[in-house]
Amino acid sequence: MILDGYGKYSIIGGNRLYGELSISGAKNSAVAVIAAAMTVNGLCHIDNMPQVRDVEILLQILQQLGAEIDVIGDGDYMIDCRNIDPDAAIDQELYGQLRASYYVLGALLGRFGHARVAMPGGCDFGTRPIDYHIKGFEALGAEVDIGGGWIDANAVDGLRGTRILLDYPSVGATINIILAAIYAEGLTIIENAAMEPHIVDFANCLNAMGAEVRGAGTNSIRIYGVNELRGGSYTIVPDQIEAGTYIALVAGTGGDVIVRDVIPRHLVCITSKLSEMGVEIEDLGDAVRVRREGRPIRRANVMTGPYPGFPTDMQPQVATLLTLARGTSFVTETVWDSRFQYVDQLQRMGAKITTDARTAVIEGVGRLKAASIAATDLRSGAAMVIAGLCADGTTLLDNIWHIERGYGNIIAKLGEIGADITRVVDAPRNLIELRTHRESVA
Ligand code: EPU
Repeated sequence: MILDGYGKYSIIGGNRLYGELSISGAKNSAVAVIAAAMTVNGLCHIDNMPQVRDVEILLQILQQLGAEIDVIGDGDYMIDCRNIDPDAAIDQELYGQLRASYYVLGALLGRFGHARVAMPGGCDFGTRPIDYHIKGFEALGAEVDIGGGWIDANAVDGLRGTRILLDYPSVGATINIILAAIYAEGLTIIENAAMEPHIVDFANCLNAMGAEVRGAGTNSIRIYGVNELRGGSYTIVPDQIEAGTYIALVAGTGGDVIVRDVIPRHLVCITSKLSEMGVEIEDLGDAVRVRREGRPIRRANVMTGPYPGFPTDMQPQVATLLTLARGTSFVTETVWDSRFQYVDQLQRMGAKITTDARTAVIEGVGRLKAASIAATDLRSGAAMVIAGLCADGTTLLDNIWHIERGYGNIIAKLGEIGADITRVVDAPRNLIELRTHRESVA
């Protein structure tokens, strides 16, 4: 079941965590893979799809375009986009609910030569331009117009392969340009392409369907235009950031947890920093064991960057851990203009942090104190869960819909390792408890 984000989490901090949990398919792969399915004139069997709201919303957009979607089992979908209509009317509001809705533009433009989508939404990190996407589409031969909240792309004379140099290795632009170039005439080369694991996963999925995308995982990706994608089966890789979040969480509370269904190689950019902070992390092949018993968290400096750098999507979680460390840490955000909105929430819990536009200076305070706080975006919301579980007392965390855009079954997963987290919903006079972690794992 996909949760609808209502209510709040009540989090009782202080428990060390023990046991095992499993990681779901990667959200940021899944949204790209769903867009890939739109380019296929056949059946796509996609497995290990995460049960999160961003995926559900994108699937709703596909349905409004005329796709048939069958749920075969948990995270197991058959997607049939043979009869989608690029001109079908879609609720503008649906596009605004997630960032990845911009992939619909690349997918429809690539397959049908024209597309009209509403401007995307997503987390608020300051300005989130899409100029690289548009420059890429234009280089392929499309005309792009933006106005009234809509983006129109048209390739009257078809799309032709070309060499595109991205100013920055943008994940979204890399994926969107690949989507547009699948059927373009000849060879498209993207230089300075993003190299994140989900780019490789997305390219592997497209290739399984019949595309010719080479070099994903390097900074130079070649797309040889094909005439048809025939469909096929694909299993989405485990979520690097979900795994990193649970690893950081155990690092914060202390304990000994095996995080299953991961690709440890994808996690090195996160686990190497946590090791530096004194957390024991053991590679078990398709799992990692995380331990912190007794030893304090050590201070560290963190600078985010494109893969294989430290992921910006782990910045709030690790900054939260550093509030518990001894000494002063510096966290520098280089990917997004504005990704420290959560700092106010941590300050309510006693954290000592000062920020300028790009850097947070964190003076470790050893322990946090519970407070009423709110998620300000998806990953900051996850960081607030970590803060609550590490704090003395009961934290009430509001705006949890942000969290449930990207973390499936979070209450059940945390319950399995002994965290005390409960969903509550505001009622006129009191707080009604909806489920405890014990019920949710039963
Ligand atoms: N940028 C531009 N112009 C563009 C595109 C990007 O200036 O046309 C800039 C952005 O403003 C930003 C940088 O380039 O400063 C990187 O943006 P990128 O395009 O790589 O980000 P994205 O594709 O919009 C994806 C993830 C984000 C993650 C970033 C960076 C998805 C759906 N979203 O966003 O994930 O933070 O890459 O790794 O894949 C999340 O999952 O919580 C999340 C926000």
